[in-house]
Amino acid sequence: MEKLKMRFNNAEKKRLVQKVFNKVFDKYDLMNDILSFGSHRLWKRQMMSWLSPNTNTILLDMASGTGDITKLFLKHVKNKGLVFAVDPNLKMLEIAKKKLSKFQNIKWYLGDAEKLNFKDNYFDYYSISFGLRNTNNINCVLSEAYRVLKPGGRFICLEFSKIKNYKFKRLYDFYSKNIPKIGNLVVGDDQPYKYLVESIKNFYSQDELAILMKKNNFYKVKYRNLNGGIVAIHSGWKI
Ligand SMILES: C[S@@+](CC[C@H](N)C(=O)[O-])C[C@H]1O[C@@H](n2cnc3c(N)ncnc32)[C@H](O)[C@@H]1O
Repeated sequence: MEKLKMRFNNAEKKRLVQKVFNKVFDKYDLMNDILSFGSHRLWKRQMMSWLSPNTNTILLDMASGTGDITKLFLKHVKNKGLVFAVDPNLKMLEIAKKKLSKFQNIKWYLGDAEKLNFKDNYFDYYSISFGLRNTNNINCVLSEAYRVLKPGGRFICLEFSKIKNYKFKRLYDFYSKNIPKIGNLVVGDDQPYKYLVESIKNFYSQDELAILMKKNNFYKVKYRNLNGGIVAIHSGWKI
């Protein structure tokens, strides 16, 4: 299960990922809408609806990016809750802060999923949406997530995954090949989108990720496929 390492060592991958998001941050939301034909909004809502958070709880929104999950959580709990939004990219965080400037109950942190400066057993929920693929060491991310969750707390992950149907996969692969061209047209650079396509191809399958979660002590691990497995939501509990 060394897929994520791809062609890079850890430091190189960290630099590459920072470079990718430094290039795309101001067009990130627009490109999400274009490349997913708006579906990412639905996927994120489905993730929040499965999480179904209670009021007066605390979410750690890891790889918070431009803040979509943080916003959905606060809407779901009708503002009666707190979010710690964490991302290593300052530019993405700045966009999120602007977008969510009306919300009082968000704490923003520059940080890395692999090493958290939060105490043990603190959060009710940990979410990571389209973030896991960008990290170096999934086991570190999962063990840190487990550590900071309260007993009874829940981990939820939305990520690109593997399409089961052969014909649909071929169609999707054809579309994927054209993603860098779309990136070039809209952002003026195809490199970040070559990284996107490659990172999706190299990421774990639904079952592989579920196994890694179980290895990291998560309990009642389940996943749901969306759009035939283009993306999947994984859920697990800390006991
Ligand atoms: C594709 S964006 C996802 C943003 C948001 N969660 C969403 O669903 O739209 C991926 C985010 O992961 C962040 N990221 C990259 N490496 C990370 C790491 N090691 N730990 C935490 N976040 C990371 C990036 O800076 C970027 O903001």
